[in-house]
Amino acid sequence: MAALFTPVTLRETTIPNRVMVSPMCQYSCEARDGVATDWHRTHLTSRAVGGAGVVMTEATAVEARGRISPEDLGIWTDEQAAALEPIAEFVRERGSVPGIQLAHAGRKASTSRPWAGHEPLQPGDGGWDVVGPSGEPWPYEDEPPATHRLDVDDIDAVVQSFRDAAERARDAGFEVAEVHAAHGYLLHEFLSPVTNHREDDYGGDFEGRTRLAREVTAAVREVWPDGKPVFVRISATDWLPDRASWTVADSVRLAGDLAEVGADLIDVSGGGIHPNSRPERTGPNYQLPYAERIREEASADIAVGAVGGITTPEQAEAVVANDRADLAIVGREHLRDPYFALHAARALDATDEIEGPPQYRRAFGF
Ligand code: FNR
Repeated sequence: MAALFTPVTLRETTIPNRVMVSPMCQYSCEARDGVATDWHRTHLTSRAVGGAGVVMTEATAVEARGRISPEDLGIWTDEQAAALEPIAEFVRERGSVPGIQLAHAGRKASTSRPWAGHEPLQPGDGGWDVVGPSGEPWPYEDEPPATHRLDVDDIDAVVQSFRDAAERARDAGFEVAEVHAAHGYLLHEFLSPVTNHREDDYGGDFEGRTRLAREVTAAVREVWPDGKPVFVRISATDWLPDRASWTVADSVRLAGDLAEVGADLIDVSGGGIHPNSRPERTGPNYQLPYAERIREEASADIAVGAVGGITTPEQAEAVVANDRADLAIVGREHLRDPYFALHAARALDATDEIEGPPQYRRAFGF
């Protein structure tokens, strides 16, 4: 029996196996309207056919100015939600759990997509003014878009955007809502003293800097069905040990606080707050120790997902079998291989523990 193919139940939602497709931006809304296209449908449904237990969408913006690039997916309109609905339905029919990552890019918004150079875009160029906890822009080499400090009313509106987006996602049939509080985007910008220089209730000490992440998680939980889980992706560390920054100890403490407002799993990533925020190594399982520590030390019982450098079935199996994390979250390997979970079942001699698509039975042998 492979641990990777043991189901796990969070609240009343059973995830059939421990493989999750990591959220990965596709920058493929060619009409720049945040509406899912054939690309998104093919990308997400292929990975459900490929057997992943959770298929998570890319960062899906809760408001237009919260997109990283103009081609990002969004869920601030009913039209956007309607385009996602059949995708979520197919993922569910295939036996996978559809998840949606709800996101706001903060001061890292308004850039061209990677294959157009990932450069800051000005309003005249298809870009827009961006927002953050403080007025300082991301330190681009080129001129940044104007960066505005959010006041308290603006912050309330951001919380409301997450709540509205979660309602739309719920009605579109998603079963997991993941709050994106990692990688130097808006919620992480509030968490980290590197970017949060406020002196009001949303800045200063740990309590103040974590307030927005807690309020957003609570708002999402408020509208998310009781039986369905809420995940939060965090950067466990800023990887900036030589200055005041967000640390793994902060993450342990935050995980307990997020559990109290209704989070069920912490998706444990790292970095992104500053161009110098880089891990010492990026090899196999490079972020797993953070997930493990949060799982062990958080004040509340909360599940964790490990992400980063998981590329082989044996590695994913070891993450779960050795009780280091509850989910093995696989990013780039899922771009190389949409059938990662089916291949893993074969490699781990577990094809009778997975409900693969009958159409592919003769190839995979389940
Ligand atoms: C990402 N990543 C990412 N993370 C996230 O939280 N939301 C997102 O939308 C994206 N977008 C994205 C696009 C692409 C093309 C890549 C390669 C990565 C990060 C990703 O989810 C994952 O955390 C990292 O890639 C590390 O995991 P792997 O790739 O080593 O398994």
